[in-house]
Amino acid sequence: MTLVSYDPAARLWLLSTAGSSCAIRLDEDDVLRQVHWGRPLTLEQALAAAAGPVAAPGSSFDGITGEEYPAEGGARFGLPSLQLRHADGSRGVHWRYLGHGIETGVAEAAGEEGFRPCELTIRFRDRHYPLELDLHYRLRPNSEVLERRAVLRHTESESEPWGEPVRLLRMDAACWTLPRLPDYGLSHATGGWSSESQLRRTALPVAETVLTSRRGITSHQANPWLMIDDGSATEDSGEVWSTALAWSGSWRITVQRTPDGVVSCTGGSGHEGLVVRLLPGDSWETPVYAGQYTADGFGGASRAWHRHIADHVLPRADELRPVLYNSWEATGFRVTEQNQMQLASKAAELGVELFVLDDGWFGARRDDSAGLGDWTPSAEGFPDGLGPLAAEVRRLGMRFGLWVEPEMVNPDSDLYREHPDWVLRMPHREQSALRNQLVLDLARPEVAGWAHARLDALVSEYAIDYLKWDMNRPFTDAGRPGHPDPDRLWFDHVHAVHALMARLRADHPGLRIEACAGGGGRVDLGVLAHTDAAWTSDNTDALDRIGIQHGYSQLYPARTMSAWVTDSPNPLTGRSLPLAFRFHIAMAGALGIGGDLRGWTDVELRQAADLVARYKRIRPVVQQGAQYRHRNAVQHVMGEESVVIAWQLPVPHGVPIPPLRLAALDPAARYRDQETGRLHEGALLLTRGLDARLDLGLDSDFSSTVVHLRREGD
Ligand code: GLA
Repeated sequence: MTLVSYDPAARLWLLSTAGSSCAIRLDEDDVLRQVHWGRPLTLEQALAAAAGPVAAPGSSFDGITGEEYPAEGGARFGLPSLQLRHADGSRGVHWRYLGHGIETGVAEAAGEEGFRPCELTIRFRDRHYPLELDLHYRLRPNSEVLERRAVLRHTESESEPWGEPVRLLRMDAACWTLPRLPDYGLSHATGGWSSESQLRRTALPVAETVLTSRRGITSHQANPWLMIDDGSATEDSGEVWSTALAWSGSWRITVQRTPDGVVSCTGGSGHEGLVVRLLPGDSWETPVYAGQYTADGFGGASRAWHRHIADHVLPRADELRPVLYNSWEATGFRVTEQNQMQLASKAAELGVELFVLDDGWFGARRDDSAGLGDWTPSAEGFPDGLGPLAAEVRRLGMRFGLWVEPEMVNPDSDLYREHPDWVLRMPHREQSALRNQLVLDLARPEVAGWAHARLDALVSEYAIDYLKWDMNRPFTDAGRPGHPDPDRLWFDHVHAVHALMARLRADHPGLRIEACAGGGGRVDLGVLAHTDAAWTSDNTDALDRIGIQHGYSQLYPARTMSAWVTDSPNPLTGRSLPLAFRFHIAMAGALGIGGDLRGWTDVELRQAADLVARYKRIRPVVQQGAQYRHRNAVQHVMGEESVVIAWQLPVPHGVPIPPLRLAALDPAARYRDQETGRLHEGALLLTRGLDARLDLGLDSDFSSTVVHLRREGD
């Protein structure tokens, strides 16, 4: 199957997935413009579209729009994806088309012969300055997602006339232009620490709307994805254009809606004000800014992203995520061999498969004021090292995991005393020690080398199965005294973290990694390429989690969503919720337990063990099935099976509770409830639905249930 076609006469490319097409063409002045992004087109149809009025015409006074990669220069008044200054003071670029290449990769999985990844590269050179630009478009088998990125090269050597650095002021990965619609709605996520992933749906203003992080990490406050529709899409219906950036540092996506009705979004790494120097011979490569068009509502858009992330982003999407126990909420910084062994033995009885020792196990770490950077077991808590605990955890039949925060140092640590110059800092400026810690400059090879050596030694010595990789503070006063190109650290740090993770994984094939940044502060397609799960939020209150998980699920799949059951009342919110409710909400993701099991009653422990066993039965469907979001329920569907997790929230007396109509079942089939044995008609599950009280037994606030359906044989 041809995923990319080219028409030389029209200089038009057509990129197609199963459910969408994107057509782009070069105009007379070699400017690359979008012709179409939306439902599938044939090449003939795309050519007809290019011959007619273009989707986003623009005029020289309104600003030229519809460009695939608008750069500063000429009569352009919109926001450029590329802004730069040459050594002679001139700004911008004027491209000449050089050529293109279409590369077909090898099949990524068995049975995918003939349906292979495909990459189109379109190349340009500036008409005067020694600069070249490659625009990349990658399509993957069985994915609706188009991955775009850009590479800029300074092609002269130092001895030549222009052999001087170019200053890059902004270099986004791509600009996506939408078709003209009567109106536009914008969906995105905002939040904060312990309130990540709050879904926002608003009308898109006629303005420039900036979604961004200036924190050096992806951030709790905004996550680098968005969805745009015509304002009328629902969970189940309507066209949705969505984009997501694969970057774990500062980022910026600007959505422009011009007064003449053109909408585009340009996005990439970095934030305003950062300037990097591109030296002769150097190149600069952006991360991927991916986009997809889907026609089946926000739910359909989410499922397409989930599939793409599972098939093409995550390193080990095929593996079932283990049920884990994490010590943080139970013992805080006060971890000892003895209290961890107690927790481990209780956790094992519940059916936990992976025991993760959280913060506090190293150096002089007894609170957040000391020890970060000293990655050797604390003599006080673990006089014989971690060996005895690791051995006990394994004897109990569990894998062993460890919390680390390799990018950080407490000023009160041996590492800082030895290497005070290893941190991000600026001359004559005070460092703000947020959470009493400073950020290590991982872009320096000696610092990255140290971090690798320490982590590698730990993983090897204790045969660590799992690292919870934390990052608890944003960058501030981020500089490199004496460095000629200090702003590069914002980019290099991210590359260094990704590279460190990749190297550890390559050297330790059994190692799995959980991304964490004070909860969900670093979740994105970039970090997920090197990790297996993400700690969704430090907020483990099951009621709050419903909203957080709803927002998370807009882009990221359930198998990556770490979700723990913790104590009641919840230590953060003080809210008391039933154990089953806490479990059921967490069972919609990768289940973990984070409560102080030493305080749980025998009845609670027995109930918890049953719920863990129940989770293991539904786990393949939850973690690997397609997810459908309903009001007060999530449903996962895989093959013959479907799992529904439903809950009841307080409603005033007299307000009717609508039945739960399921999705994606065969109306002609019958489905048996695996727990009760009850047989349901598929057609009725889809139309009449399940009554909250009579069918689901949801008879009080915070009651909840799991229904596991299997299609009956014919
Ligand atoms: C962050 C994490 C928590 C825990 C603490 C330890 O806040 O999100 O889960 O690991 O750090 O200090």
